[in-house]
Amino acid sequence: MSAAHDAIEVIIAKREGHELTDSQIDWVIDAYTHGVVRDEQMSALAMAILLNGMNLREISRWTAAMIASGERMDFSGLSRPTSDKHSTGGVGDKITLPLAPLVAACGVAVPQLSGRGLGHTGGTLDKLEAIPGWRAALSNEEMFAQLEDVGAVICAAGTGLAPADKKLYALRDVTGTVEAIPLIASSIMSKKIAEGTGSLVLDVKVGTGAFMKDLDRATELARTMVGLGKDAGVHTVALLTDMSTPLGLTAGNALEVRESVEVLAGGGPADVVELTVALAREMLAGAGREDVDPADVLASGGAMDAWNAMIAAQGGDPHAALPVAKETHVVPAPTTGVLTRLDAMAVGLAAWRLGAGRAALGDDVQAGAGVEWHARPGDEITAGAPLLTLHTDEPERFERALASLEGGYDIAPSGTAYESTPLIHDRIS
Ligand code: URA
Repeated sequence: MSAAHDAIEVIIAKREGHELTDSQIDWVIDAYTHGVVRDEQMSALAMAILLNGMNLREISRWTAAMIASGERMDFSGLSRPTSDKHSTGGVGDKITLPLAPLVAACGVAVPQLSGRGLGHTGGTLDKLEAIPGWRAALSNEEMFAQLEDVGAVICAAGTGLAPADKKLYALRDVTGTVEAIPLIASSIMSKKIAEGTGSLVLDVKVGTGAFMKDLDRATELARTMVGLGKDAGVHTVALLTDMSTPLGLTAGNALEVRESVEVLAGGGPADVVELTVALAREMLAGAGREDVDPADVLASGGAMDAWNAMIAAQGGDPHAALPVAKETHVVPAPTTGVLTRLDAMAVGLAAWRLGAGRAALGDDVQAGAGVEWHARPGDEITAGAPLLTLHTDEPERFERALASLEGGYDIAPSGTAYESTPLIHDRIS
């Protein structure tokens, strides 16, 4: 590597609000990946970027440099087109589980490299690991073969994909620099572009339970990511979707697998079905298959067959009983009335504190832990009837979980008109 630049020069340039040159960006990402730029220097640069921003040229170059730090997968040899979905993370967001087999059953391959949960948002791999025998690690050859046979893979990203992002994401997590739009957009898109999908649908969450709490910032993030995808030749669209209320009726690993299987069987909560079908339509359109209606395929049982095949191909038993927590605690509705608010962040924190999530990378999660809610905003509830059920193997966790739910819901007098928030706020293409 040529010493074309040095870390202090690049940090000062951004600190003073200048644009970084292509050459400075290429050098700093390469030097950081190889340990020449040290963590404390990259932290200072990340903070300068958070405070002073980057323009689209800089973000695009930063993303390209992170892709170039590792391998790039190529699925162009598959017999069917590929499409993937990425969610920026939410509470009860189990959509990938029914969505990947549904899109596969419609004739489009889904190469989904997923992550684990950190903090209050769940991780897809943690959810699937609740299924006895299922394994997240696949070689590139196994992934390719499964995509050809079954049409859908959900697995862990190998260490070779965008290694610069792996280091930088871990650093941002502990330096208060996660929330910078240029850094979030380049982090997500470098992994998705390196993954080699032909088309991509972004589910950008907005609301209390999301990274982006307001629609303006979520829109800016979505536009930036859509632009990066298009520049890289990936057909990319984004849906801005609500995360002020948690999705479905459960948050927690095995609980969410159970709910996903209900959706695949033709039932399940209406919002989970609506979002799954809307995202499937976008994924199919991106892959040139608007002719197939995913709602029909869901109703026909085709998606359930693809789910069973996908789980079995990764060693899981799709018919095995799912783990259940050793202890439950029911929270009754305090009054009769209409539930007008159930806060996604409060529910996400409670599920996390019950053991569904981890406090530090590498911690174990409990398969059975989590929260079930027995009503959604707009539903009439009766005093004393179960409102929430908390699940955990360790009853000492109930107290802190209950504390995070305090103030997390509102009940208005019976008959109060309830105006629902739309599930899909906007579409950006
Ligand atoms: N998810 C990512 O992969 N990166 C971010 O920066 C934020 C969410």
